[in-house]
Amino acid sequence: MTWSRRAGPSGCLRAHDEGVNMSGRGTQTYDPVVRRSYSLVGPDTKKAVEAGFDDAEWYRAPIDADRLKVLMVRRNGRPALDAVLWLALLGGAGTLAFFTLGTWWTIPAFAAFGALWGGSGDARWHENGHGTAFRSRWANDAMYNLASFMMLREPTLWRWSHVRHHSNTLIVGLDPEIGVPRPPPLFAIALNYLNLINGPKMFGKIVMHAFGHIEDFTRVLVPADKLRRVVWEARVFLLLLVGTLVAAVELGTIVPLLFVGLPSFYGAWLLWFFAITQHAGLREDVLDHRMSTRTVYINPVFRFLYLNMNYHVEHHMFPAVPYYNLPALHEEIKAYLPPPKTSMLDAYREVLHALVMQRKDVTWEIPKNWEPPVESNGKEMGTRELLRVTSSPDSGEADLGPSLLAPGELAPVEVDGSPYVLCRTLAGGYAFIDDVCTHGRARLSDGFLDDCVLECPKHNGRFDVRTGEAVRLPAQKPLCTYPITEREGRLVATMRDDRESAALLEVSAERTL
Ligand code: FES
Repeated sequence: MTWSRRAGPSGCLRAHDEGVNMSGRGTQTYDPVVRRSYSLVGPDTKKAVEAGFDDAEWYRAPIDADRLKVLMVRRNGRPALDAVLWLALLGGAGTLAFFTLGTWWTIPAFAAFGALWGGSGDARWHENGHGTAFRSRWANDAMYNLASFMMLREPTLWRWSHVRHHSNTLIVGLDPEIGVPRPPPLFAIALNYLNLINGPKMFGKIVMHAFGHIEDFTRVLVPADKLRRVVWEARVFLLLLVGTLVAAVELGTIVPLLFVGLPSFYGAWLLWFFAITQHAGLREDVLDHRMSTRTVYINPVFRFLYLNMNYHVEHHMFPAVPYYNLPALHEEIKAYLPPPKTSMLDAYREVLHALVMQRKDVTWEIPKNWEPPVESNGKEMGTRELLRVTSSPDSGEADLGPSLLAPGELAPVEVDGSPYVLCRTLAGGYAFIDDVCTHGRARLSDGFLDDCVLECPKHNGRFDVRTGEAVRLPAQKPLCTYPITEREGRLVATMRDDRESAALLEVSAERTL
């Protein structure tokens, strides 16, 4: 199917008339080049866009729609428990480090403190940045901002950077988070276990941004109307870091810096210990996370520190699934995925071998020793049934028939060949909206409906289905909404965007049309 967008009458983006190839698979052959440019504004960026890689459609393993919906449900209790435990360990290690200053015991205490801060903080930054850890939005945002500071990552810049990483995983010239380019710079990788390459770069950006200088990298990633925010966040970070430095100078001791600032360096080994297994040595420029991303089985302690990001293929395929449900997601789809690495040792063996080989020959690839199974046609997987209707040319109305949706459910609908989604809120109301996300190429009907808020399955952007309003970045532009009414026990949608009038048909939760 061809999806597209044009501006609707009320300024929302309409998803149907422009003729963009939403399959996203490039129509040109993309030749590998020996030396690649990993810059976001280099020659490979143009090539990747021309080859159709930009924000393309990626492979997703088949999964029962109802099961996926259950796996996407967020909770507050489990992430709160994990967060409290992590903060308690951090506080405990910090206290121990402080009270053992001047003894040898302070070294392991600071090592633990740094690993929890500059290593395990990365997983907290990541999960809360996706907005999937907690059900409560404020809790995700609070943890995200705290962890961003710990990792020296400017919150707005890195939010957009990570969105791009998900759109273009390991696509050279488009993915800003390729940690290991080809040929692999082995010495620099080793230095990064203490954040000695990336850390100074990130600090330099903070200083630059704090003084209002926005370079190309940031301009490419962050929308222009969010750049002011980048500047203010950088100023706050700089103030905190300089304040710590002044305290250290005043007190004549490095101790304040060992607690704030330096843990982002001496604790980074844990970040890289886990993170290098995610993509290093795997295939670039493929629209299939099974080839560019790695899942590794690890022990429960590591999984707590890393918040289950070892299920990395699963996370990239279904980023709307919260970290605590990734093991269950893995069980559902593992038949369609390559065999996971059995341990960190197993993963490191593969990574190190690949890096050594790719240093000699950048085109070397890890041999493929796995064949995907023949996939189901979706019917037996419980794929949501697509309702196809045509609208009346006279009235512009589309008869959607009686709906069997329970409160909290959604259903994809095709009207005159264009995709829409029928949503039912927990209170029982019906809303009819466009099915294509206004941010990128994703079907919202594959997303997660949490009462009145529909979350995009691709980058976790959110929309209020009652108004079409975008309520969470990276979605910024509103969706088209269509008036819907009840007529003789049937739902009837008027196929004109009308965000001015109420789009929600109020029906009690007890009643089903
Ligand atoms: Fe990015 Fe929907 S495609 S939020």
